[in-house]
Amino acid sequence: MTVQETDQDPSHQVEAAGKAFEQEFERFARFTGDSNGLVGLTLDEAVAQERSLSDLRTRHLGKKSALAAAKKLIGRVPSDQRAAFGQRVQSVEADLVARFDAAESTLKQYIERQRTARESIDVTLPGRRPRRGHRHPITLLRERIEDIFVALGYAIEDGRELETDFYNFTALNIPDNHPARGTQDTFYTTDGFALRSQTSTVQIHAMQRRGVPVRMIAPGRVFRRDTPDPTHNPMFFQVEGLCVDRGITMAHLKGTVEEFLRRMFGPETVTRFRPSYFPFTEPSAEFDFGCFKCQGSGCRICKNSGWIELGGSGMVHPNVLRIVGVDPQEYSGFAFGLGIDRMAALMYNLDDIRLLFENDVRFLEQFE
Ligand code: DAH
Repeated sequence: MTVQETDQDPSHQVEAAGKAFEQEFERFARFTGDSNGLVGLTLDEAVAQERSLSDLRTRHLGKKSALAAAKKLIGRVPSDQRAAFGQRVQSVEADLVARFDAAESTLKQYIERQRTARESIDVTLPGRRPRRGHRHPITLLRERIEDIFVALGYAIEDGRELETDFYNFTALNIPDNHPARGTQDTFYTTDGFALRSQTSTVQIHAMQRRGVPVRMIAPGRVFRRDTPDPTHNPMFFQVEGLCVDRGITMAHLKGTVEEFLRRMFGPETVTRFRPSYFPFTEPSAEFDFGCFKCQGSGCRICKNSGWIELGGSGMVHPNVLRIVGVDPQEYSGFAFGLGIDRMAALMYNLDDIRLLFENDVRFLEQFE
């Protein structure tokens, strides 16, 4: 018998369709018995199996299946064999349907069970505790400084980080040719704004907004074009202080800074002022305090000098008062500025200030 003959004989076609089904259905046979055939099957795998089973069903029982084609040939079957042919076709078809149904329902049930298991919650499991954060060491220190000055009657000013030339330099009596104005030291935007390089800018805003007399501190970020190294960062924190009133003298400046440092580092803390120069103060002084570690006898922290340099200060320059419309004949004031990061590095004995901004939790969690 040739293949050609087989194809033309309706009975043979039915048998061939049945055989082809047996062959292809073999890989699903394991789903027709008990559910042991599913052991180890993941949910995704089961879903994929279900899909290919449904494809197979269409191929073997659909309108274009070999079985459907064979059914149409019933007219060619000699009339005395038609009843037998019809029964044979029906029984093959019924067998296929039964086996597809069995495999399909096993898979469906399994998928349903797996989905439910995946979505169920074990209420007896202990909950996952959220990790509690805390404030950054710089923030902690800033708040301590703020508390001290608020107790001394100072207001807290919020400044801007992006400034015009006027606030950053001109109003602070910084001459046009001053190196701080250069792009070497200051970050400029393309349209001429500058990231403030010091919090002294807030002195101007505060006097413009509040008028005089004024007493305020302004903590905040400042920016300078420094290459990061263990003692430099292009972004760091300062606190500015300003007090303007009638009759303010250098004695008030010294008394205020001394009181602040005593409250910060303990009542025994000593302070010293050294003559210095800043464009926006006259006279100007830098201030140091006696090392909190060795009490002045000399150690690693104070580099054996017994003193730690902390900031700059001075009497507000008459030009600065004038530019905000304050009469320097009537009013005088003092100002000071210090770096919070530097202070943090000293107090926490950090050998690299970049640690403060690397956001490494192992480092930061020590400061809770
Ligand atoms: N702005 C100065 C700096 O960044 C610090 C400073 C010095 C602030 C003298 C002042 C001051 O208010 O009077 O180095």
